[in-house]
Amino acid sequence: MSQTPHAESRASQAAPVSEPGADARRGVGIAHAKAILFGEHAVVYGAPAIAIPVDSLTAEAIIEAGPPGLGIASSLYTGPVDGAPARLAPVVTAIKASLERAGLAGLAHETEGGAVVTITSSIPHERGLGSSAAVAAAIARAAFDLAGTELDSETLFDLIQTSERVAHGKPSGIDARTVAATGAIRFNRGAVAPIHIGAPLILAFADTGHPGSTAQAVGSVQALREREPEATDALLSRLAEIAEHSIADLASGDRTAVGAAMSEAHSILHRVGVSSERLDAIVAAACAAGAAGAKLTGGGLGGCVIAVADSDAHADEIGAAMRLAGAERTWTVEVPAA
Ligand code: MEV
Repeated sequence: MSQTPHAESRASQAAPVSEPGADARRGVGIAHAKAILFGEHAVVYGAPAIAIPVDSLTAEAIIEAGPPGLGIASSLYTGPVDGAPARLAPVVTAIKASLERAGLAGLAHETEGGAVVTITSSIPHERGLGSSAAVAAAIARAAFDLAGTELDSETLFDLIQTSERVAHGKPSGIDARTVAATGAIRFNRGAVAPIHIGAPLILAFADTGHPGSTAQAVGSVQALREREPEATDALLSRLAEIAEHSIADLASGDRTAVGAAMSEAHSILHRVGVSSERLDAIVAAACAAGAAGAKLTGGGLGGCVIAVADSDAHADEIGAAMRLAGAERTWTVEVPAA
């Protein structure tokens, strides 16, 4: 995916990429961000969803084996794993589970030396871009790299989900699959299939600058479903239909239809209560600037908007309009024909 950062993008803060497997005492793992095109929230109830990798935003983990003690070094916290703040619980889980599954239980339990896990990430946290899943994937890859063992896709998925369950309770698995995907996918109940992209899809991304908690967003949809089961299920079913129909529109490269589907999906996500004033304003600004359609992506309640543009120059114009509507930063992602 060719992805061009505009305005101030955290992509510029990406850590230097190290050579995996270069040192027997050091393991390196990298994973990219993701964006959901269609089907978020409905996917939690078994509906299909469509998602893409976002390669320009990455998380990197380096595990260095050394003297006793298991430590983390990151922008959020540096110190012993067992003293990490509660918000790092998914990361701690990923570290311990990955070391153990990689055959490095002695390091996980600090009985045979120790390790320091250094994490750097350019993926903004709690913005619906799969930051927690990508960090878990990077840690899993680093642990297996350190062990010199092959990491198969199902073990990777399990390890990410183990960490995601601590982060979000009941993750559908779409983030875990998409941060390990190399192209656009249809996700359904844990299984993935690549989808055909008939013509390059140019998306203008906008970060509201506001975090959105996936656990809270999923919980609020669940609460709505308990209060108004029929109405909520009808809305979730429509999200599922939109996701399924979008596969043909993406395959034929019908940008107008893809955009219209995104705008309809956004209005439904608004009705199920996971949009926000800022997200709605940015979506409206993108459409007023000529986007074929726009929607929030991921859990919502904050996070990011994606908008369908006609060209890179058009994506720049849409990005400028979205910044005027309150976006903290914008960038362009091209989903290549495949
Ligand atoms: C989060 O990226 C997508 C949600 O559908 C939650 C999930 O699928 O686990 C909101």
